[in-house]
Order: sequence, then structure tokens, then C-alpha cells
Amino acid sequence: MCLVTFGIKGQSLNKKITRQLKYSLSEVAKAKLRNPKVVSPRSMRDDTLFMVPSKDWTSGFYAGNLWYTYELTNDEFWKQKAIEFTAPIENEKNDKTTHDLGFKLYCSFGNGYRLSSNPAYREILLQSARTLCTRYNPIVGSMRSWDHSTDKWAFPVIIDNMMNLDLLFWAFKQTQDSLFYNVAINHANTTMKNHFREDYSSYHVIDYDAKTGKVTKKNTHQGYSHESAWARGQAWALYGFSMCYRETGNKVYLKQAEKIAEFLLNHPNLPKDLIPYWDFNAPNIPNAPRDVSAATIMASAFYEMSIQVSGKNIYYREIADRIIANVSNNYMCKPKTNGGFLLNNSTGHLPGKHEINVPIVYADYYYLEALLRKRILDKIKN
Ligand code: GLY
Repeated sequence: MCLVTFGIKGQSLNKKITRQLKYSLSEVAKAKLRNPKVVSPRSMRDDTLFMVPSKDWTSGFYAGNLWYTYELTNDEFWKQKAIEFTAPIENEKNDKTTHDLGFKLYCSFGNGYRLSSNPAYREILLQSARTLCTRYNPIVGSMRSWDHSTDKWAFPVIIDNMMNLDLLFWAFKQTQDSLFYNVAINHANTTMKNHFREDYSSYHVIDYDAKTGKVTKKNTHQGYSHESAWARGQAWALYGFSMCYRETGNKVYLKQAEKIAEFLLNHPNLPKDLIPYWDFNAPNIPNAPRDVSAATIMASAFYEMSIQVSGKNIYYREIADRIIANVSNNYMCKPKTNGGFLLNNSTGHLPGKHEINVPIVYADYYYLEALLRKRILDKIKN
């Protein structure tokens, strides 16, 4: 089955993807022999494959990539690999010390349940959703993101946390327990109220007084400055509010996503190829590193928005197609390099001086998700 080729000469894109992922499996197997405590590849650091234990916030993406590849190819080989890499993430279902349960467990077990209906996966996901809800504070109206950096923040909520709501909406649909739904929409509403500037760009970290619910700080952690627009944060916001519209049908969320889209797509610092610099206000644009992960998250969200917004559907669809074509043609890793990652040039944490302009696993995850969304849309069109 041929997916889309986007003008890539010779091989079809899906062949390129599966060849590179097979190389990745062999590199990951070697890394696991060196250190049995790690479970998934995260990125390249110092030209070496950087592997993480299940506790890391990125641990579920690789299993997700394998499930998506199974979905793209229908090849049982990928299903078996996906099952293998999903299993160790179960460790995280009871971890009350982080908000990252959605990233870890919904990308792995969530896709696994969707594609295999394994009842054990359903229980693991429900337990993860229950654990995530323990981080909700009704006075603040949000789930606390981080327990670390207590010297800086008392009750930090980061824009990335919007991505965890998918797990809660799923748990509500499975159980009809309104707790999951209410936590999700309250979190979204509080984020909408406090995270955004007038131009619909988003702060990264909002800190709250947990006793009064008052906002005490509007900060960044991974962006250039407190007042800058960190690219991946804007992409999480776009994706998060479009997802909230899908799950609730409440047009307020769609309007929010559209306003964020307007900010992104009309920004003078958005490059012509639509692959953002790591921060829209990075000081050394046009020489600043790009963030391909922000681009693939945006592309996946724009495909979703193209079926949500009447009138602008072709516009969002074309934007997403352009991002995916540019990424596929110009940002792919050369075969059998970079530990087997698909895409290069993502920036994880520039102020922290790591993962700058390198392959990162979540860029691949949202790329594969976008390709699948594109395939569905292409079928509808034809
Ligand atoms: N959730 C952390 C990040 O986007 O880097």
C-alpha cells in the first residue's frame, strides 16, 4: 500500500519510513543491551541514541510510533513490536507525581487499545486517567503539571498539559463518569482564561496560589523569555483546543484554536516553509534553530481542524499538506543514520542546552499521526 509520496524520488514514503524504523529497532535493541533499565528512544544527544526509562515524559511515543506504523501498513510485524514496547510503560499508571500520564500512556496504550481492543489496555488507561485526576485542584480549576522546581513555582500549569485531556475525554466516554469530563473542561477553561495574551499567543508556565486560585506568575521554562512565544507551546495549544472541540462540540474551543492558528500563520517570523523557529521571538532569527516537532504537531492539528471548520477547511488542509510535504522532502534523516529517527531538526530545550536541532521522538509521532489523518482525508475526498 502506498501512502503519499510528496515527490520523494524512487521509494514511496511508507517504504522509507518502515526501513528507517527497522534500523531504529536494531539500534534500540543494542542500546537496551548496554542499559537494561531504559525502555524507549527519545532523541539524539552528542550524536548518540538517547534512551529513557518509562518514567520519562517521552517514554510512550516510540510505542505510539510502532502502533501508527502498524496502522499505516497493516503488517502484523509492527503490531508485535508495538505490543513489546507498550508493555513497560504500564509502570507509570499510578505515578501521581506528574501530569504527563496522557503523553506516556495514551500515546502507547491508547493507540494500542484503539487498534487491538485488548481489555487489559483499557484497565491500564482507566487507572492512568484516575491517577491524572488526583492532580486536579478545584480552587485553581486545573491539574498541576510539575512537582519539580518548587523554588520557582507553587502550582505550575504548563500549556503542554492540554495534551493530557485526550485521555480524560476517552475515560469519560468509556465509563460515563463525569469526573473525567469535568476535570478536562475545567482545565481547558482555566487554561483559556489565564494562559493567553491578547494576540492569542500562549505563556508556557502559569503559576497559581493553590489556596486562592489566583495567578501569581506568567513564565517560561523552555522558551526564550517569559513574554516570548515558544513554538512547541503554541503547537500544543492549537492541538489541545481543536481536540477539546472534537470531544465537546463547544464552539468556544474551536474559536480559540482558530485564533491560535491566526497567530501562528500570520506571524512575520514563521518561515516560508512553515517549519517554525524554536521560539517565534528567538533573538537570532533567521539563524535560530527550527523545531520540526512544533511543525508536525501543528500539521496534525490542522488536518483535524480542516474537518471542523466550514469555509476554512481547504485552507487548513493545504497548510497541513504543505508542512508535511516540506518535512518529508527536506527534514528527514538520511537512511540508517540518527539512531533510526525519521525526522531531524527538532529543538527540545534550548535554554537547558539540550536537544537542539536534533531528531526527537515526538516529532516522528505527530508526523505519523498527521500522515494517517491525511490518508483518511484523502479517502473522503476521492
Ligand atoms: N512537554 C514538554 C515539551 O514539550 O518539551
